[in-house]
Amino acid sequence: MQTGVCYFPEHWPRERWEADVERMAEAGIEYVRMSEFAWNRMEPEPGEYEFEWLAEAVDLVGEHGMNAVLCTPTATPPKWLVDEYPGIRQERPDGTPLEFGSRRHYCFNSPEYRRESRRIIERLADRFAGNEAVAGWQTDNEFGCHDTVRCYCDDCTSAFRTWLRETYDSVDALNDAWGNAFWSQEYTGFAEVDVPGPTPAEHHPTRLLDYHRFASDSVVEYNRLHADLLREADDEWFVTHNFMGDFEPLDAFDVTEDLDFAAWDSYPTLHTQQAPDTPAPEDAGADLHRAGDPDVTGMNHALYRGVSGGPFWIMENQAGDIRAFPYSAEPDDGMIRLWTHQAAAHGADVVSYFRWRRCQFGQEQYWGALNNYDGSPDRGLEEAADAAAEFDSLPDLDAPSGDVAILVDYDSMWALHSERHAPDFDYWSHLRTYYRAFRRRGTTVDLVSTSADFDEYAAVVAPSLHLVADDLADRLAAYAEGGGELLLTVRSATKDENHRLRDELAPGPLADALGARVEQHESLSPGLETRVSYEGETYDYRTWAEWLRPDGGTVVGRHESGAADGEPAIVRNASGDGHLTYVGVWPEDGLADAIVVALLERAALPVGERLPDRVRLTERDGHTWVTNFRADAVSIDPGSGSVVLGDESVPGRDLAVVDGPAHEIGVGVDVDG
Ligand code: GAL
Repeated sequence: MQTGVCYFPEHWPRERWEADVERMAEAGIEYVRMSEFAWNRMEPEPGEYEFEWLAEAVDLVGEHGMNAVLCTPTATPPKWLVDEYPGIRQERPDGTPLEFGSRRHYCFNSPEYRRESRRIIERLADRFAGNEAVAGWQTDNEFGCHDTVRCYCDDCTSAFRTWLRETYDSVDALNDAWGNAFWSQEYTGFAEVDVPGPTPAEHHPTRLLDYHRFASDSVVEYNRLHADLLREADDEWFVTHNFMGDFEPLDAFDVTEDLDFAAWDSYPTLHTQQAPDTPAPEDAGADLHRAGDPDVTGMNHALYRGVSGGPFWIMENQAGDIRAFPYSAEPDDGMIRLWTHQAAAHGADVVSYFRWRRCQFGQEQYWGALNNYDGSPDRGLEEAADAAAEFDSLPDLDAPSGDVAILVDYDSMWALHSERHAPDFDYWSHLRTYYRAFRRRGTTVDLVSTSADFDEYAAVVAPSLHLVADDLADRLAAYAEGGGELLLTVRSATKDENHRLRDELAPGPLADALGARVEQHESLSPGLETRVSYEGETYDYRTWAEWLRPDGGTVVGRHESGAADGEPAIVRNASGDGHLTYVGVWPEDGLADAIVVALLERAALPVGERLPDRVRLTERDGHTWVTNFRADAVSIDPGSGSVVLGDESVPGRDLAVVDGPAHEIGVGVDVDG
């Protein structure tokens, strides 16, 4: 476990670099990421390459015993390139092209932009091939940031038509798969199908879904172009990309097939403000504004560990206050160190901070850094240095791996988000309901794709797995049959892979194994009653309700309010050596906890005590981090392990590491603390 930092040598006079790099090394930093937006400095005029300044910066990094991570600079095509090829610009759905003057203004499908990207990457890779100070590369920067995965230009229209032709072969097959008999939407040729621009009413859901799949695939292809060229130049380099938190439009599993591992950019106080399952900023209070929500950040760590299939990186970690919207409170003392450890506990091998020094010009002068703009250390620097030294004191650890998996399916998310049926039906929030409940019990949860090997897990949770093709249904049924504990939640297996309701009621191909069908569904506005009983207790739920018709399955939860009063809400059935459970409501915390505990018990997994709010136990290869996101202290009983970092009293916004398993650790709110 190591630390890194993002540095922009092009922003500082050459005579400052030495001092900066020397101080990085003093702070224990081992990786320095550079060059993601520096195309105009690498090629100030077409065909005039200037890489020597970057080579000097790389040398300096190497001379100080650190590694450089370089980036392909394609997130910011320079002005001359945009003027020469104005068609490379993305277009919004109404056809408005994006202007030069910020970043990410290019289209992934522009043949000209692909050619220009190839040219600069080849030159750059060639210049640095064999340079031992360059450990690896980041492709581009945050694909899709600023709502740029989906473009609506002519190049995308042609590429979309090609994608459809390759997917469906004939237009009749497309008409049939989509169901274009609805509202006279049948096509007579692929050339008639446009990208979905503005329309009076909503778009055909399957057309939207395929467009979303196509847009994500376009990024996958564009990323592959980078990865292939870099590997051709030097196959010792790693290639990664920095993804974003709770990000919808890009399938990170698909992109990462061409990468060595995934990285993501973690800004806890920004993501906490953006997540729909945290209180609105005005109600959030100091804990959230100054420390963030451990499960918002934690679930993204788990996601990118799953995407990587092992250790991942934080390429940009919040280093101080941020230019977040709407508010940007300074993190509390201790948070930079705590976030760093939290990431490592979840399997980050490198935590790299954004950025070394606050910039004196441009759009991000209000974005904090490890150093202030006058070069003096800012609040985070010492904490980052402490974390680096503490990592050195801990052994090398393998990435965590859990016995419980939560399935992540981007297709289902795209389908659900195009037909939410409730303003607050957010896929990541729904997943997080279950993630939080497990984490509250100290359980390690892997977030994996639907192509994962389910048999590696004692329990598999499929939250709102809306689109289920027959082969996936067969694998899920076989998993339960073979002894697995499968938990399906609202809106799961409702549609086939073409976003169409099936002939049989949900959960369609899994209904027989479940011994129940979903007869009705409704979305519920906050003013309506939402009560349900489960194993003798009454609980609340939110947003969505279904009622089930049992046919062999056991009713374990019933509605106690509204039109569904008395109807089955949760059904469980034995299937072979395992069980299927279907939860037909979106549970509030208490019910989510009860469901998760029952699942863990049936799966014969340890059930930890329910942790105090905002305290989390995270186990990595036999070591458990106790991360205290509260303002007050907690005390721990380390079980069979001993405290190897910190103390048995863990102050607020602090941590301890125990060399023992999470489920043995007791945590109490510290009355003396
Ligand atoms: C990230 C981005 C960085 C920088 C940072 C702060 O999203 O990758 O380049 O913009 O946010 O704004």
